[in-house]
Amino acid sequence: HAPVVVAIDGPSGSGKSTVSRAVAARLGLSFLDTGAMYRAMTWWMLANEVDVDDAEAVAVACAKPVIVSGTDAAGPTITVDGQDVSGPIRGPEVTAQVSAVAAVPQVRARLVELQQGCARVAERGIVAEGRDMGSVVFPDATVKIFLTASETARAGRRAAELRAKGVDEATITAMAADLARRDAADSSRETAPLAQAADAVLVDTSELTLDQVIATIAELVEERA
Ligand code: C5P
Repeated sequence: HAPVVVAIDGPSGSGKSTVSRAVAARLGLSFLDTGAMYRAMTWWMLANEVDVDDAEAVAVACAKPVIVSGTDAAGPTITVDGQDVSGPIRGPEVTAQVSAVAAVPQVRARLVELQQGCARVAERGIVAEGRDMGSVVFPDATVKIFLTASETARAGRRAAELRAKGVDEATITAMAADLARRDAADSSRETAPLAQAADAVLVDTSELTLDQVIATIAELVEERA
């Protein structure tokens, strides 16, 4: 029996991270946030003054950092060359540049290999979330989910999260524009664009509660595992 792999893809703000972690916790599986790995790579490029708009420079430099992704659903960790970067990778500088770094084929090749390695060592199986989990990284996944939500629902959720953190309205508007730009870049790039795999189950979360989404996915996994 092959280990369970649950591949969850979708645009930013679809609820992917929350849903993926919760499904992993409920089913006792490991959890892999592949966006964090692209962010960690971007953080290292910025820290080492690599021009992230120079694809050739990024392609050469991306072999250097040692990126280690913890896969505990309760508290995933990410380190670069031994340094915990969980905080800085969520900052505006990394967020603004990550799509450019993630579009470089050599970056993707390197991180895909690490991602597949994480799945191989996950004892009970893994929930992996990103943009190309079902389409590229885990073509034989047990269950593939493509999570979407209307643009209004996605923007509304993001704004509510930010408001809860005390972020001001002007920043919220600017971040909404940044999110739209990032989704457009991720969907239109040449290598592994955000796309629904032919055999993925589409789950539109606009009108569903978090619990409903988690239950839907957990049931699919239990049926097929
Ligand atoms: O999921 P998150 O928003 O943290 O991902 C950050 C960025 O990493 C995305 O905007 C995308 O450019 C890139 N990414 C990717 N492939 C993945 C996961 C993330 O290209 N599997």
